[in-house]
Amino acid sequence: MAKKQISSKTTERVSAQPRFHQRAGEIQPYGTVSHLLPLELEEPVRLEMTEQLNQLLADTMTLRDLYKKSHWQVAGPTFYQLHLLFDKHFGEQVELVDSIAERIQLLGGVAIAMAPDVAETTQIERPPRGREEVPVQLSRLLDAHQVIIGEVRKQARRASQIGDDGTNDLLVSQVLRTNELQVWFLSEHLVDVPLVKAKEPSATSSAA
Ligand SMILES: [Fe+2]
Repeated sequence: MAKKQISSKTTERVSAQPRFHQRAGEIQPYGTVSHLLPLELEEPVRLEMTEQLNQLLADTMTLRDLYKKSHWQVAGPTFYQLHLLFDKHFGEQVELVDSIAERIQLLGGVAIAMAPDVAETTQIERPPRGREEVPVQLSRLLDAHQVIIGEVRKQARRASQIGDDGTNDLLVSQVLRTNELQVWFLSEHLVDVPLVKAKEPSATSSAA
């Protein structure tokens, strides 16, 4: 008996050796919410919100990456300004990704994180690996914004309906407003105005 106690004490001794290659079961499965958070929000509300926010998170991560792709691969006379603008928008989307993911965790859920999971979940069309022309880059980005803005509006209304005011506030004041502003900045680049020589007034407009 005494011998046994000695051997168990030996195994509990603190060691300076790092313990590599460890694996264990998950402490919380994806798609669940933890029970005991004092948020005054019922579990079904937190379940529904975290599920919807994960869709938004996957789409926002995809748009974030589409901005970096565009930043790297842009070509042509507007290279410099678009290179900078795409990176600015990328940085703002990075912040949104963090806010959405942390909102999911705060509500007791599990935020989607890794690229393969994001790829399986996103509703945004996959672009080719190669480079595309500026108007196509801009159009892809705008289409992605449109998907996100549509779901944000729906989710914000639903959050307010079921009493999750914090999520509603995040969606409207942060996610929606940022996306709307970025849409404006992109869209103005697709207005076909002359760069150097103004258009001659047409015969009909000068006669009027
Ligand atoms: Fe860069």
